[in-house]
Order: sequence, then C-alpha cells, then structure tokens
Amino acid sequence: MRTDYCGNIDSSYVGQEVTLCGWVNKRRDLGGLIFIDLRDREGIVQVVFDPDLPEVLEEANKLRSEFCVKLTGNVRARPDGQVNDNMRTGRIEILGTGLEIFSKSPALPLDWNQDNSEEQRLRYRYLDLRRPVMSQRLQFRAQVTAAVRRYLEDDGFLDIETPILTKATPEGARDYLVPSRTHKGEFFALPQSPQLFKQLLMMSGMDRYYQIVKCFRDEDLRADRQPEFTQIDLETTFLDADGVMQITEGMIRDLFMKMLNVDLGDFPRMTYAEAMQRFGSDKPDLRNPLELVDVADLLESVEFKVFSGPATDPKGRVAVIRVPGGAGMSRKQIDEYTKFAGIYGAKGLAWIKVNAMAEGQEGLQSPILKFLSEDITDAIIARTGAEQGDILLFGADNNTVVTEAMGALRLKLGEDFDLLEGEWKPLWVVDFPMFEEVDGQMHALHHPFTAPRDVDAQGLIDNPVEALSDAYDMVLNGVELGGGSVRIHEQKMQQAVFTVLGINEEEAQNKFGFLLEALQFGAPPHAGLAFGLDRLVMLMTGATSIRDVMAFPKTTTAACPLTHAPSPANPQQLADLAIDVVKKASE
Ligand code: AMO
Ligand code: AMP
Repeated sequence: MRTDYCGNIDSSYVGQEVTLCGWVNKRRDLGGLIFIDLRDREGIVQVVFDPDLPEVLEEANKLRSEFCVKLTGNVRARPDGQVNDNMRTGRIEILGTGLEIFSKSPALPLDWNQDNSEEQRLRYRYLDLRRPVMSQRLQFRAQVTAAVRRYLEDDGFLDIETPILTKATPEGARDYLVPSRTHKGEFFALPQSPQLFKQLLMMSGMDRYYQIVKCFRDEDLRADRQPEFTQIDLETTFLDADGVMQITEGMIRDLFMKMLNVDLGDFPRMTYAEAMQRFGSDKPDLRNPLELVDVADLLESVEFKVFSGPATDPKGRVAVIRVPGGAGMSRKQIDEYTKFAGIYGAKGLAWIKVNAMAEGQEGLQSPILKFLSEDITDAIIARTGAEQGDILLFGADNNTVVTEAMGALRLKLGEDFDLLEGEWKPLWVVDFPMFEEVDGQMHALHHPFTAPRDVDAQGLIDNPVEALSDAYDMVLNGVELGGGSVRIHEQKMQQAVFTVLGINEEEAQNKFGFLLEALQFGAPPHAGLAFGLDRLVMLMTGATSIRDVMAFPKTTTAACPLTHAPSPANPQQLADLAIDVVKKASE
C-alpha cells in the first residue's frame, strides 16, 4: 500500500513522490492551508495540503486526530525558518496530492498532552502504545532480544522450549495453578522459571541451552515485579561460576555497546558480606557514594543503652551514614527520615551535626552528645571521615534491622541530596550464604539446587549457617538484573541440602523426584543464570517501571483492565473441571 515509513522521509527524498500510511497525529488549519503531522511506527512527517488541489484539500478538511489514512505526495524542502533539526523529517515536508481515509476516530479516551492514570492507560493499552515513547520502547526491546539471540547463538547456545503446563518449581513465590480436566482435582503449576527443565537438558547433553521465556510468580507486585515476566534463561555444562559470569557479562557488555554505545568495562565483584556491610543491600547501587560505617566497637561501654546494647550483642549492629552537607537538615527533616527508617523496624535515628569542626565537641550538635566522651566522638568523626557541615545518622539494633533500615535510608538520602555519580554501575555480587534462617527455619537463599562452595555434604549439615553458595547475581544501578549458580550434580549433596531445609525423603520425592532420579544417571557438572529481560530493558530505556516496557502488563493488583482478566469462569467450565467456587463471606 505504501512506499515508505513516515518517519524515514528525509532530505534525500526531495523531489520524489511517496505514498505513506499512518495516523493523523495533529491537524492545523491555517486558513486555506491544512497541515497534518502523519505518524507511523518510525516517526512523524509534516504534510501540507494547499488550495491548488481543491479536491484533496476538501478531503483533508475532514481529517481529525487519529484518523487512519493513506497519503500520496511530493517531498519538498521546508521553507527557511521552518526547519526542525530535532527530527529526522524536520528538513522536509510533503505536498499532499492524494488522500484516502481508511477509518475515522472519535476523540481518544486518553489525552496525550497530560499524564493519564495507569489504569486508564492499561484499559486502552493499544492506544497508549501509539505514543512514540511507548512504541520506541517496544522496538528497543525487540532489538535487545534479537541481539541477545544472536550473541548466544554465536556462542553455541541452543534455543529449547520448556513446558508451561508443569509442576511447581522451586523459586519460592506462590504458584499460578491450572486445573486439569482430564485429571479432576489435580493441577498444573505455571513455571516460576524453567530451572528444573534446564538442568534436565544439561543431563541430556544439550551442553548450552537458552530461552527467552515467560515465568509466572504470584507475589506482591512492585515497579520491577510482574506476575508474568520474561527471563533470558541459560544453562551450561562443564563451566564453573567464572565461565558463566564471563559469558553473561560479555553479553551485557556487548548489548550496551551495540544499543547505547556505552562501554560498561569489567564488572567488579563484591561478596555478599561486603555488600551488606557497606551498602546494606545485596544489590547495591554503586552510583550512590554513601556507605554504612560500623562503629559498634567504639560504643560498647557508653552509657546510652540504645548504643551499648547492640554494640555488645553478637547479633547487634551500630552503623553510621555520613551525609555530606547534611548539617543543614531541619528537625522536621530528621523526623521524616526517622519515620522512614521506622518502616524497616528502626526504633530511632540518632544524629550528630558537625557545625564547627575546629571547636571540638563544642562544634557538634546532637541529642546524644551527653552520652559520648570527646574521645569517642573524635573516633567516630575520624572513622566516618566527617567534615564540617555534615550530619551523621546512627542506626542501632539487631543486625537485620540496622542493615535493612540504613540500606534503605542510604538510597533515599542519595536521591534526596542528588548524590548519584556516573550513569552505569554494574557489579557481580558473589559468595551468598547458602541458607537464611527465618524463625528457626532454614530457607535456601537462591534455590535448593544451588551448590555450596568449599564444603562437603557432611560439612554442610554440620554447619549450614556458615556455608556459602556458588551463586552470583548481576546488579546494575541497584537493580538485580540476573542471578544464577553452579548446581548440585551429586545426589548426596542434594540430599544434604534437603536435610538442612527440613525437606524429608517423601516430600523431596514428591516435589523433585524426577530431578533426583536424573542425578543418578551420569549427571554432568552444570551452571547457569537467568536475567530479567523486562528489568534490563527498563534500565536501558530509562523507564521507571517494567510495566512501561511490556506491551500488555498487569496492574499492581495483578489484573488486566483491558481484557478484564481475571474473570469468573462459566458454570459449565467449572463443572467440567470439578471445581466449586466458595464465595467469600462478604459476598
Ligand atoms: P531469580 O528468581 O533470581 O532466578 O530470577 C532471575 C531474574 O528474573 C527477574 N525477576 C523478575 N522480573 C520481573 N518480575 C518478577 N516477578 C521477577 N522475578 C524475578 C530478576 C531476577 O534476577 N532459575 C533462577 C535462575 C538460575 O538460577 O539460573 C531464577 O529464576 O531480574
Ligand atoms: P531517646 O533516648 O529515645 O530520646 O533517643 C535519643 C536519640 O536516639 C533520638 O535521636 C532517637 O532518634 C535515637 N534513637 C533511639 N533509638 C535508636 C536506635 N535504635 N537506633 C538509632 N537511634 C536511636
């Protein structure tokens, strides 16, 4: 129907006739002359209709925003003064010589000149996606997936599909269940990831597997979490952690170079322990220069119980954040930060302002100064590197509360004080603990198929709390882009992990029997990783939510305003599935 995309017409087309199809982005009537901006996927071009062709002008008169049309015309240079160098098409315009209206449109339910509610944008997603910014993000995403496929295929990875109707997978979120009609009362689970299947593929000898694949997790949603999302999932045999990190780091570096012309360089590696200590997070945003500085050893014998308690408790922590230039904070601001830290369980936020460095303790201002000797304040100032005009904020409690609260506060202060440095700060976080203890129960920090480092099966059972895993996360600008691990390929070790997790033989057989069985038949050493594609594209496009880089995302309550899913099933369907819906008491 057409000869070109609207957005591609530039000065090289001057003098040519073109036929374009697209939507009326804007129409202006300048008494006799009609201008329209015609839009398609590739961009916008200016069209002018003049009275020399009265029939075409009359048709153009009918045009309104978002009519879909076919236009024929001659490309000509714009008059001086009307050139717009910000657009590819900004040096030309098209004199319309033929116009066909394919279909009309009433005023859209979305007003593109203002921010529309997300509910409304999702309700009319197909219109929201007409906006150039949204269209460009989806095009960018398509280019990213194409580049990833090329990179991995060049490196010998095979794209192999794994089932969507399957059994519960071990990623730790709630499952989405699908009832079986042929096996009444039984359910498939949608995969939280292809984890077990990709391991089985390694046992089949496929050597290198990848898949760009939907994963499903019924969990609390946030800006970077959706109930269905996409992973770039991969698995390899006969490679150790370093081997997997090299391939995947190379892939991300290549992608940033190709798509954004950014050289990410070599990614630094940091242990989990260091990340938690210095940044209060296992996904530290290294653009933020603030750090948590431990001072418990200086405060063991102070009179202030809030400090001395945690300082002398092996499970306690006392950490300080120095905010450069923060001495100007008002009481109200400090109260607000105290409240913010309180969200994470902090019971207060002690502070010291360094008003006049030369005046020793006289130059300090703080409600807790009376509890601290000059020697102690000097030592705190020396360790934190505090300078005149700074504020020191203190967290004292058990390790978990201080680390979480101060870690979150660090991010907030970094934003509020506009402290972020540099554009891209990737890193690897390594040496995660194998397990975390919650209310006396051990949980796998990654998943139960992750291999431990430098310990045998008995050693793991004897001292699980100390055990580190051979897992690695790639973090970019404070976002966990991907994570993976070396897997267990020996039954004995797998059994030891289940023992620590309190999974008995029967439960293990029931849930993962097929994998345990497969481990008996010459299972090779294997390792892999999965990236969150949505998060990757969100960061690369500068979007603030993964919803903005997905064509048809769900709302934060896991619903789709466009299709109205989820929705009640009809009674016959339910009868076929032998399912009774129990109404809630309130209904
Ligand atoms: P993990 O659970 O860490 O590992 O997931 C890998 C990556 O997927 C992304 N991600 C999500 N993105 C959007 N919405 C969600 N709800 C969501 N959940 C996770 C993150 C995360 O880093 N099978 C293992 C990988 C492996 O061991 O190879 C796994 O799924 O970017
Ligand atoms: P209080 O003695 O409760 O009046 O507290 C004195 C100062 O210590 C106030 O600035 C509190 O915000 C702070 N504070 C109280 N509890 C904690 C805590 N657990 N960690 C850090 N600061 C605290």
